[in-house]
Amino acid sequence: QQIPVICIDGPSGSGKGTVAAQVAERLGYRLLDSGALYRITGLVATRAGMALEATNAERIAALIAAQQLEFTSDQRVLVNGEDVSLAIRTEEAGMNASKVSAFPAVRSALVGVQHAFRALPGLVADGRDMGTVIFPHAPLKVYLTASVQCRAERRYKQLISKGLPANMQALFADLEARDARDMHRAAAPLKPAEDALQLDNSTGTAEEAVQQVMDWWAARQ
Ligand code: C5P
Repeated sequence: QQIPVICIDGPSGSGKGTVAAQVAERLGYRLLDSGALYRITGLVATRAGMALEATNAERIAALIAAQQLEFTSDQRVLVNGEDVSLAIRTEEAGMNASKVSAFPAVRSALVGVQHAFRALPGLVADGRDMGTVIFPHAPLKVYLTASVQCRAERRYKQLISKGLPANMQALFADLEARDARDMHRAAAPLKPAEDALQLDNSTGTAEEAVQQVMDWWAARQ
């Protein structure tokens, strides 16, 4: 039996995470937050004292492949039994994720983990290359965008609500740097799949974006 996959790709802070989680919940599907894998990789490598540079790419890839990763149904992430859900959500962790994610060796090391998320009754996969690289045959691919200003504001509110430090100007600059890195890297750059449906989430609510994805999905059945 075919296992359905809905891909939701887009830049940082476009609301992918929220939209993907809600679509998964409504459909009773599993959720893959692929960004978490790169965040974990950055964290584990940093803790091991490795500089996040291309010369270390193979070592970082070997390191992440050796970790025991666990994703709980309530969206917590455990690395060798340690809950790192909060530690991977800082801006620094996001920037480090963006650095390690540019290394092809790291990306290859994480392919199997991502494919393993595909299970019945279906999967909603959130990331940058879900539709272009990881699940190229997915029946629905959504590319979710929003303006940098709007994404920076969202990220600011998200961090504050989690009790994490946040600075609007720094967030804006970080988002632009992260976009540039994610879009211009050679390995699996952020771009819409040819068959992706684009959705601009700058003005509407998360609820409207969720409904649009649900409507597109219903139309595919
Ligand atoms: O989505 P999130 O902000 O958690 O992703 C963190 C970083 O991981 C992104 O900036 C991007 O560089 C990288 N990433 C990626 N491919 C994915 C998901 C995330 O390269 N599928």
